[in-house]
Amino acid sequence: MEIWIDTANIEEIKEAKSWGIISGVTTNTTKIAQEKQSFRELIDEICKIMENKPVSVMAVQHEYKSSEEIVKDAHELVKWHSNIVVKIPPTIEGFKAIKILSEEGIKTNVTLVYSPSQALLAAKVGATYVSPFVGRLDYVSHEGMKVVRDIKTIYDNYGFKTKIVVAAARHPLHVVEAALIGAHVATAAFDILKMLYNHPLTDVGLKTFLEDWKKVKF
Ligand code: E4P
Repeated sequence: MEIWIDTANIEEIKEAKSWGIISGVTTNTTKIAQEKQSFRELIDEICKIMENKPVSVMAVQHEYKSSEEIVKDAHELVKWHSNIVVKIPPTIEGFKAIKILSEEGIKTNVTLVYSPSQALLAAKVGATYVSPFVGRLDYVSHEGMKVVRDIKTIYDNYGFKTKIVVAAARHPLHVVEAALIGAHVATAAFDILKMLYNHPLTDVGLKTFLEDWKKVKF
Protein backbone atom coordinates (compact mmCIF):
# COMPACT_ATOMS: atom_id res chain seq x y z
CA MET A 1 0.00 0.00 0.00
CA GLU A 2 1.30 3.46 -0.86
CA ILE A 3 1.42 6.14 1.82
CA TRP A 4 0.80 9.73 0.76
CA ILE A 5 1.06 12.86 2.87
CA ASP A 6 -2.07 14.98 3.17
CA THR A 7 -0.79 18.56 3.35
CA ALA A 8 0.19 21.60 1.33
CA ASN A 9 2.98 22.53 3.73
CA ILE A 10 6.39 22.44 2.04
CA GLU A 11 8.41 21.74 5.20
CA GLU A 12 6.17 18.81 6.13
CA ILE A 13 6.44 17.35 2.63
CA LYS A 14 10.24 17.68 2.60
CA GLU A 15 10.57 16.16 6.06
CA ALA A 16 8.22 13.22 5.36
CA LYS A 17 9.92 12.61 2.01
CA SER A 18 13.27 12.34 3.79
CA TRP A 19 11.84 9.44 5.84
CA GLY A 20 11.55 7.41 2.64
CA ILE A 21 7.97 6.26 3.16
CA ILE A 22 5.82 8.62 1.10
CA SER A 23 5.08 8.24 -2.58
CA GLY A 24 2.53 10.99 -3.17
CA VAL A 25 0.82 14.14 -1.87
CA THR A 26 -2.81 15.12 -1.51
CA THR A 27 -3.79 18.76 -1.16
CA ASN A 28 -7.14 20.43 -0.91
CA THR A 29 -8.36 24.02 -0.98
CA THR A 30 -8.42 24.31 2.82
CA LYS A 31 -4.84 23.07 3.17
CA ILE A 32 -3.64 25.41 0.41
CA ALA A 33 -5.42 28.37 2.04
CA GLN A 34 -3.42 27.77 5.24
CA GLU A 35 -0.11 28.44 3.44
CA LYS A 36 1.51 31.79 2.65
CA GLN A 37 2.58 31.11 -0.95
CA SER A 38 0.36 31.61 -3.98
CA PHE A 39 -1.53 28.59 -5.30
CA ARG A 40 0.68 28.26 -8.37
CA GLU A 41 3.97 28.69 -6.47
CA LEU A 42 2.90 26.10 -3.93
CA ILE A 43 1.88 23.49 -6.49
CA ASP A 44 5.06 24.11 -8.52
CA GLU A 45 7.21 23.53 -5.45
CA ILE A 46 5.30 20.45 -4.28
CA CYS A 47 5.49 18.86 -7.74
CA LYS A 48 9.22 19.62 -7.94
CA ILE A 49 9.89 18.03 -4.53
CA MET A 50 7.81 14.95 -5.41
CA GLU A 51 9.51 14.57 -8.83
CA ASN A 52 7.34 12.15 -10.82
CA LYS A 53 5.14 11.06 -7.90
CA PRO A 54 1.36 11.83 -7.84
CA VAL A 55 0.22 15.18 -6.43
CA SER A 56 -3.56 15.56 -6.09
CA VAL A 57 -4.85 19.07 -6.75
CA MET A 58 -8.49 20.18 -6.85
CA ALA A 59 -9.86 21.35 -10.18
CA VAL A 60 -12.86 23.02 -8.61
CA GLN A 61 -11.44 25.91 -6.67
CA HIS A 62 -14.36 28.25 -6.15
CA GLU A 63 -17.68 26.71 -7.03
CA TYR A 64 -19.33 23.61 -8.45
CA LYS A 65 -18.90 24.14 -12.14
CA SER A 66 -20.20 22.60 -15.35
CA SER A 67 -18.34 19.56 -16.69
CA GLU A 68 -16.92 21.73 -19.48
CA GLU A 69 -15.44 24.16 -16.96
CA ILE A 70 -14.05 21.33 -14.82
CA VAL A 71 -12.42 19.78 -17.91
CA LYS A 72 -10.97 23.19 -18.83
CA ASP A 73 -9.52 23.64 -15.32
CA ALA A 74 -8.14 20.09 -15.38
CA HIS A 75 -6.45 20.70 -18.76
CA GLU A 76 -4.82 23.82 -17.31
CA LEU A 77 -3.65 22.00 -14.16
CA VAL A 78 -2.06 19.07 -15.99
CA LYS A 79 -0.16 21.55 -18.19
CA TRP A 80 1.62 22.73 -15.03
CA HIS A 81 3.15 19.34 -14.17
CA SER A 82 2.80 15.83 -15.52
CA ASN A 83 2.44 14.35 -12.01
CA ILE A 84 -0.73 16.31 -11.16
CA VAL A 85 -3.78 14.17 -10.43
CA VAL A 86 -6.95 16.23 -10.78
CA LYS A 87 -9.31 16.08 -7.80
CA ILE A 88 -12.96 16.31 -8.79
CA PRO A 89 -16.07 16.02 -6.56
CA PRO A 90 -18.65 13.27 -7.13
CA THR A 91 -21.38 15.40 -8.69
CA ILE A 92 -23.12 14.66 -12.00
CA GLU A 93 -21.01 17.35 -13.69
CA GLY A 94 -17.93 16.05 -11.93
CA PHE A 95 -18.48 12.50 -13.17
CA LYS A 96 -19.16 13.75 -16.70
CA ALA A 97 -15.84 15.59 -16.57
CA ILE A 98 -14.01 12.52 -15.20
CA LYS A 99 -15.29 10.38 -18.07
CA ILE A 100 -13.91 12.84 -20.62
CA LEU A 101 -10.60 13.21 -18.78
CA SER A 102 -10.20 9.43 -18.32
CA GLU A 103 -10.65 8.91 -22.06
CA GLU A 104 -7.93 11.52 -22.61
CA GLY A 105 -5.60 9.66 -20.22
CA ILE A 106 -5.66 12.41 -17.57
CA LYS A 107 -5.41 11.10 -14.02
CA THR A 108 -8.30 11.92 -11.69
CA ASN A 109 -9.05 11.48 -7.98
CA VAL A 110 -12.71 11.60 -6.91
CA THR A 111 -12.71 13.60 -3.71
CA LEU A 112 -15.31 14.05 -0.94
CA VAL A 113 -16.53 10.47 -1.35
CA TYR A 114 -18.76 9.22 1.45
CA SER A 115 -20.67 6.26 -0.02
CA PRO A 116 -20.09 3.03 -1.97
CA SER A 117 -22.55 4.28 -4.61
CA GLN A 118 -20.34 7.30 -5.33
CA ALA A 119 -17.33 4.98 -5.54
CA LEU A 120 -19.18 2.66 -7.94
CA LEU A 121 -19.88 5.61 -10.25
CA ALA A 122 -16.24 6.74 -9.96
CA ALA A 123 -15.15 3.34 -11.27
CA LYS A 124 -17.79 3.38 -14.04
CA VAL A 125 -16.40 6.64 -15.45
CA GLY A 126 -12.82 5.39 -15.22
CA ALA A 127 -11.46 7.52 -12.37
CA THR A 128 -7.85 6.74 -11.50
CA TYR A 129 -8.43 7.11 -7.74
CA VAL A 130 -11.41 7.33 -5.38
CA SER A 131 -10.99 9.00 -1.98
CA PRO A 132 -13.42 8.01 0.80
CA PHE A 133 -12.98 10.53 3.65
CA VAL A 134 -13.07 8.07 6.55
CA GLY A 135 -12.38 10.45 9.46
CA ARG A 136 -15.14 12.84 8.43
CA LEU A 137 -17.58 9.89 8.30
CA ASP A 138 -16.54 8.77 11.80
CA TYR A 139 -17.27 12.31 13.02
CA VAL A 140 -20.93 11.92 12.03
CA SER A 141 -21.25 8.42 13.55
CA HIS A 142 -20.84 6.49 10.29
CA GLU A 143 -18.05 3.94 10.22
CA GLY A 144 -15.64 5.31 7.61
CA MET A 145 -13.70 2.07 7.23
CA LYS A 146 -16.92 0.12 6.52
CA VAL A 147 -17.41 2.29 3.46
CA VAL A 148 -13.86 1.40 2.41
CA ARG A 149 -14.54 -2.32 2.91
CA ASP A 150 -17.72 -2.06 0.80
CA ILE A 151 -15.91 -0.20 -1.96
CA LYS A 152 -13.17 -2.85 -1.99
CA THR A 153 -15.77 -5.64 -2.29
CA ILE A 154 -17.55 -3.88 -5.16
CA TYR A 155 -14.29 -3.21 -7.01
CA ASP A 156 -13.11 -6.81 -6.51
CA ASN A 157 -16.48 -8.21 -7.66
CA TYR A 158 -16.12 -6.58 -11.05
CA GLY A 159 -12.37 -6.10 -11.41
CA PHE A 160 -12.64 -2.30 -11.46
CA LYS A 161 -9.23 -0.66 -11.87
CA THR A 162 -9.91 2.54 -9.87
CA LYS A 163 -7.54 2.72 -6.89
CA ILE A 164 -8.85 3.30 -3.37
CA VAL A 165 -7.25 6.15 -1.41
CA VAL A 166 -8.22 6.08 2.27
CA ALA A 167 -8.38 9.82 3.03
CA ALA A 168 -9.03 12.06 6.02
CA ALA A 169 -7.27 9.56 8.28
CA ARG A 170 -7.46 10.65 11.90
CA HIS A 171 -5.19 8.13 13.64
CA PRO A 172 -2.69 5.35 12.87
CA LEU A 173 -5.38 2.64 12.98
CA HIS A 174 -7.05 4.16 9.92
CA VAL A 175 -3.78 3.56 8.04
CA VAL A 176 -3.37 0.03 9.41
CA GLU A 177 -6.99 -0.89 8.63
CA ALA A 178 -6.55 0.52 5.13
CA ALA A 179 -3.66 -1.90 4.61
CA LEU A 180 -5.64 -4.84 6.07
CA ILE A 181 -8.54 -4.15 3.72
CA GLY A 182 -6.17 -3.91 0.77
CA ALA A 183 -6.66 -0.24 -0.12
CA HIS A 184 -4.09 0.97 -2.64
CA VAL A 185 -3.19 4.18 -0.78
CA ALA A 186 -3.63 5.80 2.63
CA THR A 187 -3.15 9.55 2.82
CA ALA A 188 -2.55 11.11 6.23
CA ALA A 189 -1.48 14.40 7.79
CA PHE A 190 2.13 14.86 8.94
CA ASP A 191 1.33 14.29 12.64
CA ILE A 192 -0.49 11.04 11.92
CA LEU A 193 2.40 9.77 9.79
CA LYS A 194 4.71 10.49 12.74
CA MET A 195 2.43 8.51 15.06
CA LEU A 196 2.92 5.42 12.87
CA TYR A 197 6.47 5.16 14.23
CA ASN A 198 5.55 5.36 17.89
CA HIS A 199 5.19 2.66 20.49
CA PRO A 200 5.77 3.24 24.24
CA LEU A 201 7.36 -0.22 24.58
CA THR A 202 9.94 0.72 21.94
CA ASP A 203 10.82 3.83 24.01
CA VAL A 204 11.06 1.81 27.24
CA GLY A 205 13.13 -0.90 25.54
CA LEU A 206 15.53 1.62 24.00
CA LYS A 207 16.02 3.34 27.35
CA THR A 208 16.83 0.00 29.03
CA PHE A 209 19.27 -1.00 26.28
CA LEU A 210 21.06 2.36 26.56
CA GLU A 211 21.38 1.98 30.33
CA ASP A 212 22.60 -1.61 29.99
CA TRP A 213 25.13 -0.61 27.34
CA LYS A 214 26.98 1.27 30.09
CA LYS A 215 27.33 -2.04 32.00
CA VAL A 216 28.75 -4.02 29.08
CA LYS A 217 32.34 -5.17 29.64
CA PHE A 218 34.92 -4.69 26.88
C1 E4P B 1 -7.61 14.02 0.80
O1 E4P B 1 -7.60 13.94 -0.39
C2 E4P B 1 -8.09 15.20 1.52
O2 E4P B 1 -7.21 16.27 1.29
C3 E4P B 1 -8.10 14.98 2.98
O3 E4P B 1 -7.89 13.67 3.35
C4 E4P B 1 -9.17 15.69 3.71
O4 E4P B 1 -8.93 15.47 5.04
P1 E4P B 1 -9.35 16.46 6.20
O5 E4P B 1 -10.69 16.05 6.69
O6 E4P B 1 -8.28 16.22 7.20
O7 E4P B 1 -9.31 17.84 5.64
